[in-house]
Amino acid sequence: MTLSETTRLQYLNAMGITIWQSRFTPESIITPIEFNPTEIIKPDTWEVLRTEVSNCNLCSLCTTRTQTVFGEGNLNAKWFFIGEAPGQHEDEQGRPFIGEAGQLLTEMLRAMKLTREDIFIANILKCRPPKNRDPHVDEIQQCRNYLQRQIALVQPKMIIAVGRIAAQTLLETTEKIGKLRGNVYQFENIPLIAIYHPSYLLRSLTEKRKAWQDLQFALQTFKQLR
Ligand code: URA
Repeated sequence: MTLSETTRLQYLNAMGITIWQSRFTPESIITPIEFNPTEIIKPDTWEVLRTEVSNCNLCSLCTTRTQTVFGEGNLNAKWFFIGEAPGQHEDEQGRPFIGEAGQLLTEMLRAMKLTREDIFIANILKCRPPKNRDPHVDEIQQCRNYLQRQIALVQPKMIIAVGRIAAQTLLETTEKIGKLRGNVYQFENIPLIAIYHPSYLLRSLTEKRKAWQDLQFALQTFKQLR
């Protein structure tokens, strides 16, 4: 014969034995969250990012590139320059802005009393589009995350969008570069200035004066930052 729970408690109580009962019902117990090691968010690192970029196959440019062009320079730079995409020389050597336009950009930096070692420089796209055509929307979208992570790692004080494609992409606009230059915008809370692309200046020498004005404007804006 088994005693009912009430009778059992009455007997125990009569014997002076106090029974402590849990106030938790099974429903009130919170189910522990399952531990899933893949869900742990690790801080980003240059090493992880570099490896991801060099193995990237998110768009079809991975089938035509010689190699990815990650970007280079000072990892703690105050200035972050962003171009469009690697050209032939960049694709061959895996470094940004090393062709003729890159040499002019280096000269422009010198005019700003900056060197390539002072700045970080990268492109909207990490792979060369065939025949240097303009980047396609899907390519820009797939590559966007890499650039955003580079900016987050460097934490620059100022971003310079070099040329129309970089400026329009970062500012999500179709406005002409001639209209975008000379203003201060924000990209992820970082001041951004758009300048003419050096390859455009190589074609249009008469615009060189405007390029110099752009650089002066960038320097003035930088000096006014806290
Ligand atoms: N033009 C760009 O926009 N980026 C490069 O790296 C080279 C040329």
